[in-house]
Amino acid sequence: MERITNFTKSNEYRARIHDLIPGGAHTYSRGDDQFPQLSPSAISHGKGAYLWDIDGNKYLDCPMGLTSVSLGHAYEPVLERVREELLRGVNFQRPSKIEGEMAEKFLALVPQHDMIKFAKNGSSVTTAAVKLARGFTGRKLIAFPGDHPFYSFDDWFIGKTACDKGVPEEFSALSVTYKGCDIESLRELFAKYPGQIAGVITEPERNACGNGCGCAHGQEAPKRFLQEAIALAHKEGALFIIDEMITGFKTHFPGTLVKYGVEPDLTTWGKGIANGFSFCALTGKKEVMELGGIRKTGTEKLFLISSTHGGETHAIAAGLATIDEFVKHNVVAHNHAIGDAFIAKNRTVIAKHGLESYVQVVPSNWMPLLTFKDKNGDVSNGLRTLVMQEMIARGVLFQGAFVPCFSHTREDVDFFAAALDESLEVFKRGLEDGYEKHLVGEAAKPVFRKIL
Ligand SMILES: Cc1ncc(COP(=O)(O)O)c(C=O)c1O
Repeated sequence: MERITNFTKSNEYRARIHDLIPGGAHTYSRGDDQFPQLSPSAISHGKGAYLWDIDGNKYLDCPMGLTSVSLGHAYEPVLERVREELLRGVNFQRPSKIEGEMAEKFLALVPQHDMIKFAKNGSSVTTAAVKLARGFTGRKLIAFPGDHPFYSFDDWFIGKTACDKGVPEEFSALSVTYKGCDIESLRELFAKYPGQIAGVITEPERNACGNGCGCAHGQEAPKRFLQEAIALAHKEGALFIIDEMITGFKTHFPGTLVKYGVEPDLTTWGKGIANGFSFCALTGKKEVMELGGIRKTGTEKLFLISSTHGGETHAIAAGLATIDEFVKHNVVAHNHAIGDAFIAKNRTVIAKHGLESYVQVVPSNWMPLLTFKDKNGDVSNGLRTLVMQEMIARGVLFQGAFVPCFSHTREDVDFFAAALDESLEVFKRGLEDGYEKHLVGEAAKPVFRKIL
């Protein structure tokens, strides 16, 4: 395969951007410390399932904008709707009618819920759900799975990570953690803090769940957990929140809560629901959501989400067009078929190299994941970074997960597998004599680390 070797402009960009922007990016998981040195530092543009960096190198995109681009980059039917809306103006002193249109359309997809509130970031809607749970129950504590990677950039979540600098410990103490998919650990939490937990939040299923529940393997274990956890939370007087930020429009349409028919009080949505545009949502049961309303004269007001850009019209238009495309083309079925092909094809490649003990494909067809282990059987960030370096050199922007989108084709899966085939030759050498000998620069580092 052809090799990408020219990162001249990327290196220049990398050298100056950290003087201008702390972290060099607006998402830590997009940062330079998440990629090998031989990688693009900035993207020029994208089209469909492909990206071009500032040196003009072309890549097959695997992470698809932190999983947000569910149809494809610069996807024409979405752009068309956005352009129409842009010409009508994006921000007015009163709500725009498109807000009502979206509210009706989105709620029709979620039979469990009656009301919806929009925001620009997923973190804003998970934090809003936390606030509603506290406001509704009059309690302080929030429970989330401590082994899950991310729920919000706000203090209630960040204060419980290794990066708690800047968050007073009094705040952090108001969040408590349980083990994902583990009903007993949630039961223990309720026993430890009787009458104190306002709400429980969880992602409904994960492609990288390491808790032995079968979650990542498409089994029904998460359904049982969700049913039991919702019943437990309600018995204990707490609200239950499902965060569909990643699973929404991926595991099912619109998400896992409809696939399993479970009844959370609140659900948070974002990422893929507007094909990368900044449109997120909180849906919920009327009795809870109404707390953020202004009609109940004489009752105390709860300040829910209120922001200048929350109702930005073109992002909502992108969401409407995305929903239409998902319905019209059964996008989820396409994406799952791509995921299935990815799993089968890459397993064959791994077997050809006899590397089944070291490289594994987690078979979540909505977001398959490759894991890389060293000779001791431990997951190795260094070996993963080495594979990233080799895949990038062969025109594949890959960090471990493959996020199928409507623009990915079977040919793209074949292209990925061909790049993996060659990259595994280098992986084998890294496995034998250490990744450091073959990796230029340092291994990618965890986003949540105490010391830089
Ligand atoms: C499960 C989950 N919840 C919430 C968020 C926060 O979303 P945002 O980055 O849009 O604020 C993320 C982001 O990665 C997420 O993965």
